[in-house]
Order: sequence, then C-alpha cells, then structure tokens
Amino acid sequence: MELSPEPTAFTRHTGARVPLICGAMYPCSNPELIAAVSAAGGIGVVQPLSMIYVHNRDLREGLREIKKLAGDKPLGFNAIVEQSVKAYEDRMRKWIDVALEEGVRFFVTALGNPRWVVDKVHAVGGVVYHDVTERKWALKALDGGVDGLICVNRRAGGHAGNHDPRRLLDDMGDLGVPLVCAGGIGDAAGFVDAMGMGYAACQLGTRFIATKECRAHDDYKRAIVRAKAEDIVLTVRISGVPVAVIETDYVRAVGTEAGPIARRLLQHRKAKHWMRTFYSLRSMFQLKNASLEGTNYKDYFQAGRSVDGIGAVEGAGEIVERFEAALIEAQTKAPTGVVPVVDEAVDEAVAE
Ligand SMILES: Cc1cc2nc3c(=O)[nH]c(=O)nc-3n(C[C@H](O)[C@H](O)[C@H](O)COP(=O)(O)O)c2cc1C
Repeated sequence: MELSPEPTAFTRHTGARVPLICGAMYPCSNPELIAAVSAAGGIGVVQPLSMIYVHNRDLREGLREIKKLAGDKPLGFNAIVEQSVKAYEDRMRKWIDVALEEGVRFFVTALGNPRWVVDKVHAVGGVVYHDVTERKWALKALDGGVDGLICVNRRAGGHAGNHDPRRLLDDMGDLGVPLVCAGGIGDAAGFVDAMGMGYAACQLGTRFIATKECRAHDDYKRAIVRAKAEDIVLTVRISGVPVAVIETDYVRAVGTEAGPIARRLLQHRKAKHWMRTFYSLRSMFQLKNASLEGTNYKDYFQAGRSVDGIGAVEGAGEIVERFEAALIEAQTKAPTGVVPVVDEAVDEAVAE
C-alpha cells in the first residue's frame, strides 16, 4: 500500500492528499503551475487577475484547462475581498460564481470582510480560509464565518506579516479552526518543522516561482535561486503597503519608502482610497512586466525570505513529492512528534 501523510483538518476540508498549498500569486499564478501542484497531491490556488490579465485566459476556460491537466484533483481560488472599488467587487462576485459552477470548493480570501464569500461557498458545501497577520484580524474573519486561517508570517513573500510562525500559532491556536503556515518555507525541512509545530498545512509562494511550470521570466527565477534571506527588503513603493522584494540595483536606486506627497495622500482620510487604487493599478502593470520580461525592465521581483531554502529551478510536482516524502518519513520516525497539536482540537468539528 502506498503511504500518505497523516490526514489533517486541512486535508479533510479540501480533499488534498498533501497539506501543501501553492498560494495565489499575482502575476505568477499560471494555469500550468496550479495544475502541476494539484496533480501531485497538493493544492494550487487560482488568482483570477493573474489568470485573466496576465495569462490571457477566460476564467471558465482556464479553470477547465487546469482541471483537465490536474486530473480533476482539488483546486483553490483566491478572492481578495477589497470593497472600496464597486466595479471590482461586482466582478469578483461573478468570478466566484464561475469558480463554484466549475466545482472549486476551497477559497482563500484576503483583506476585507469575507462574509459574502462564505455565504456563497457554504451554500454548496465548500470551505473558506482567510489570510491573517494578527489575532484581531482572525477574530473578525471568524465573525465572518470562515473555516480556517492562513497565518501570514514576517518571512512571507507578497504582503508579509509582523510575527514569526511560532508566535502566530501561540496567538491563534485556541480559535478552534485549522491554521495554515504561510511564509519562509523554501525546503522540505522547513515544511516538516511547521507541520511539527502544529500547523494543519503550509502555503508556499516563492518556492513555486522557481519551477519549470511557472511562466515567470528566467531572470526572475535565477534571482530567487541566487538570493539569500538578507537580500529581501520590504518596499511600500509598489502598493502603498509593505511588499517583500529582492533588493536589486533598481530597488537600491529608488529606495523602499513612498515619496512625501504619496505618503501624505496615503494618510489622508478621503484621498487614501483613491491613492490605493492608483497604486494597485500601477503595481499590476509593473509586476506583470517584471515577472514576464526579466531584468531589462526596471521593476520588481517579489519574493519572501524562503529564498534561503531554494537552490534550483525544479518541477512543481517534484517539489510536492519531495515535501510529501519528508513528511511521511518524519511521521513514521516520530508518530506523535509531527501530529499537529491544533489539529487534534479541531478534528472533531471538521469530521462532522
Ligand atoms: C509574487 C507573489 C505574489 C503574491 N500574490 C498574492 C495574491 O495575489 N493573493 C494572495 O492572497 N497572496 C499572494 N501572495 C502570497 C502567497 O500566496 C503566499 O502566502 C506567500 O508567498 C507565502 O510566502 P513565501 O513566498 O515565503 O512562500 C503572493 C506572494 C508572492 C511571492
């Protein structure tokens, strides 16, 4: 009989065999990457803006393509529930309907109030996990009815959190829902450690950019393989809030702070919404170019401190298989050492 990792509350919720998520990434989530992770037993998460505007797929067609490539294994869908722009919210509602019609049952929400997503997803028996960086946001998300929390730590790529993985687990371990570790995991040892700490799954971003299936430019993948944790800096120049990037010559030249006018507008009660929208639109183009065109474009390579554990560009499926094997080995050697502690507390609820 083939061995599998011990089930967790997360694998029971999602149907994935390996408690490993390829997190949503604008602009790096392309259909082939998402499918490769799901096909190997983890779960790939679709980023709708990336799918439509960077990888030029109609959303429904793209979802069908991924399902076909992944042999109908479970998939996830990212919904950034930013409610300050009405046209965006209307579009997100339609996209979620399409994802549900195409059979997606795992949703990762971020930013605003996830309640309306939860209502739609629960109606068809799916689950919603919300990205959080602090206990106060976790409590709000639980008020909104979410089923699990993605604990984004200070080592994460994208919008990093403020705390380390242990502190997040201590702060949120009593909330009665599965917790996912997001940030800083580049190798199998980091994955096994986080599972041993008590997380029900891990979400990785940066590791999956340096893969054969990811459509990011080779310059970007090479920069990830070469970088060390100390090369990662936080810049507010992309979106107005801190984003983790590799410190390239361009980043050194332009700095990581917003200019004085932008800073004042970002603090202004009314102007800040407009300013954030401006930043979001500009950053969509900048990140798309940097990701697809390489270093001739004076832009940004987003990456987390997980770069430390990344030594080569590999197949996404090979990564999932190696991480799975390491987890099984750790669980076989120390059956009680890597049984997630938090998981035991929420197991019954999930089983119901
Ligand atoms: C290039 C990049 C883009 C990202 N874009 C998104 C996004 O659109 N939505 C989201 O919820 N998270 C986004 N994230 C966060 C990832 O889903 C994941 O939580 C994070 O990368 C984990 O940290 P790691 O990069 O150290 O593995 C992004 C991360 C990266 C590196």
